[in-house]
Amino acid sequence: MTHRLKRGDTLVVASHNKGKLREFADLLGPFGLKTVSGGELGLPEPAETGTTFEENAAIKAIAAATASGFPALSDDSGMCVDAIGGDPGVYSADWAGPDKDFSRAMRNVEEKLQQAGARTPEQRTGRFVAVLCLAFPDGTLRYYRGEIEGTMIWPPRGSLGFGYDPMFLPEGHERSFGEMAATEKHGWSAGRTDALSHRARAFARFAAAELED
Ligand code: IMP
Repeated sequence: MTHRLKRGDTLVVASHNKGKLREFADLLGPFGLKTVSGGELGLPEPAETGTTFEENAAIKAIAAATASGFPALSDDSGMCVDAIGGDPGVYSADWAGPDKDFSRAMRNVEEKLQQAGARTPEQRTGRFVAVLCLAFPDGTLRYYRGEIEGTMIWPPRGSLGFGYDPMFLPEGHERSFGEMAATEKHGWSAGRTDALSHRARAFARFAAAELED
């Protein structure tokens, strides 16, 4: 397989979200790329006007690759809850408001689940979705998607991770993402093909296709 990104190449991580940047740093660390974030380059954050994870990921990656002249990797992600029509979905960040108050966002999800009468674990299913978009300055785009199924729990548990982690119990596990250290949440390291989190699952596909071991 042809690897398109080599050790020493610069890759812009097109995100201003501290939680995601930390996770990308962990995931990209072993591959020897020079990573720099959009924030460090002073790139503006484009408006996420798409209605799918793929559209929003492309908007962010294209903007960063075009402005920097380097390949750029973006992530658009969110939590989709079945009983409430897939919400908050692509609007997961918006539900936290300008103060990025995820306690409020999680309460909002819980209220909507209660209104929908969703009380048993079987009624409270959903998933985290992450779509990575790799954009090159010449306009080439490639996508990698990862998902992890789980159950919405209440009250939230744990203070690790970020965003909706404390209310998400991944399928087959007894601890919420908020109770898992990063290595356990990702469940992946270089050379492995399995992974747990949506971002790590998408990243494993990206790494297999694009990166040198
Ligand atoms: P966006 O991709 O920048 O639109 O933001 C996605 C939002 O989804 C984040 O701000 C979080 O609220 C939520 N999200 C995505 N991935 C995770 C995760 O791994 N844990 C918890 N929340 C997440």
